[in-house]
Amino acid sequence: LPADAFFRANLPTALTFDDVSLATLYSDILPKDADTSTSLSETLRLQIPIVSSDMDTVTESRMAIVMALNGGIGLIHYNMPAKDQVKEVARVKRHIHGLIQDPIAVSPTDLIGDVLAMIEQKKYTFSTFPVNDASGVLVGLLSGNLVKDRYKSKKVADVMTARASLITEQERNVAKDPIKAADAFFNQHVGLNKMLVVDDAGHLRGLVTSSDVERITAEAKSRRKPARDSNFRLVVGAALAPVRKPSGELDRDKIITHVGNLMDESIDAIAVSTAHGHTAGVGDMVRMVRDAFPSLTIIAGNVTSASGVEFLADCGADTIKVGQGPGSICTTRIVAGVGIPQMTALHVAAKGAAAKGVKIIADGGITKSGDIVKALTMADAVILGGLLAGCREAPGEIMEINGKLFKQYRGMGSLSAMKAGSAARYGQDKTDNARKLTAEGIEALKEVSGFADDVLGNLIGGVQSGMGYLGAKNLPELREKARFMRVSPAGQKEASPHDVIEVSTRKN
Ligand code: XMP
Repeated sequence: LPADAFFRANLPTALTFDDVSLATLYSDILPKDADTSTSLSETLRLQIPIVSSDMDTVTESRMAIVMALNGGIGLIHYNMPAKDQVKEVARVKRHIHGLIQDPIAVSPTDLIGDVLAMIEQKKYTFSTFPVNDASGVLVGLLSGNLVKDRYKSKKVADVMTARASLITEQERNVAKDPIKAADAFFNQHVGLNKMLVVDDAGHLRGLVTSSDVERITAEAKSRRKPARDSNFRLVVGAALAPVRKPSGELDRDKIITHVGNLMDESIDAIAVSTAHGHTAGVGDMVRMVRDAFPSLTIIAGNVTSASGVEFLADCGADTIKVGQGPGSICTTRIVAGVGIPQMTALHVAAKGAAAKGVKIIADGGITKSGDIVKALTMADAVILGGLLAGCREAPGEIMEINGKLFKQYRGMGSLSAMKAGSAARYGQDKTDNARKLTAEGIEALKEVSGFADDVLGNLIGGVQSGMGYLGAKNLPELREKARFMRVSPAGQKEASPHDVIEVSTRKN
């Protein structure tokens, strides 16, 4: 059925991803040719419709960089001091692909045993390190073949290749195109596989590895286009904390100063992220930012109704986040008894978006690429938390349990995240001792899923496959052509592998 007839027929039952399936349609589209680009506002264009969630176990600069390189965007979370969030944004905007700008360096006074312990603890996959003195001046290079147990009691200074014997490159020669500069460097200095970049004072400013040059050159031919601003910098967004005065009213000066600082770093979008966006407080905040910054892309949420979308659009938001309680770490529906299963929420929200000419993003509950295809029949993009939290680029340490690698993933409404700053997102006050914080999220672990490049590659492959089945050459066509069916419990069972013993891990 077309969306309207289908969802009306199923009312008042609310449906989510696994409750529905999309019908195949005549197609003359090859999946690889399906165009996944989308817009979040008049100025913010993405090559893939995927946003990484502004959660403190999902998006900091490292994740935001890889998101933008793959054509999406990351929203930096706000559980950190405001000035640190500005720095995180700056790291993304100043990222030069191929140049590792903060290489992990060791100290000449470290023992090889210390270096081995660090590699083990941080689960590094490399063992060659630049050696810096306390002021960041490059004094040597520690080769990986010396980082061995048998040398563990030796000092780095005694085994490193000293500065005088190292061939380095000046920062000013590589800043424009590090890959090209590195390619020339490795051709000239046969046998070297690290290009160390220094400034005039000898400080280590970056590092390029020959394997990265090869990988990036090969990828350049097949890779999806990065999402860039008009000055060719990667795009990035940041979540905005609703800072309040002791009296309870929004602290306009602090909020506007902070957005101004983010704008100075050329931020592409800010997100007013709350559990309940259809409220006077969120409306005031969106209006306040819109009045001060007329051309900034504002994302706001979360809502699950057409009137919620229309309200935030009237306050000045360009893009509205839809989803209350579908997230993999959410307990809002259990704790508050509130929320609408996600496909129905998207359907009603899309009505509001069409009425106001704004965009919507499906936020939460996505566990596989098929869910993204279904979400994109209603929404302009999706937000991923859990699917990205296991990536190496997500913040947090990797831990090993029974031989398997995990990373922490917690709801922003979990007790520990709220204590770290996000209480306001759930309408609570972390300094309010009289009233205990009520959690609306859990703390969990995600198995390490590899690098975000691969995870995103698999997800987008799935999205393009879905578009191919529907004969949709782009996302507007996907929205227009989608035909829905309700899936029975037996149909759901049939949809997953069954009656076999699985021998390999599915990727998405
Ligand atoms: P997924 O399913 O991708 O969901 O892991 C991520 C989204 O969940 C929302 N979120 C929460 N919702 N309690 C909630 O009810 C929480 O503690 C919580 N933390 C995050 C958020 O919208 C995120 O993008």
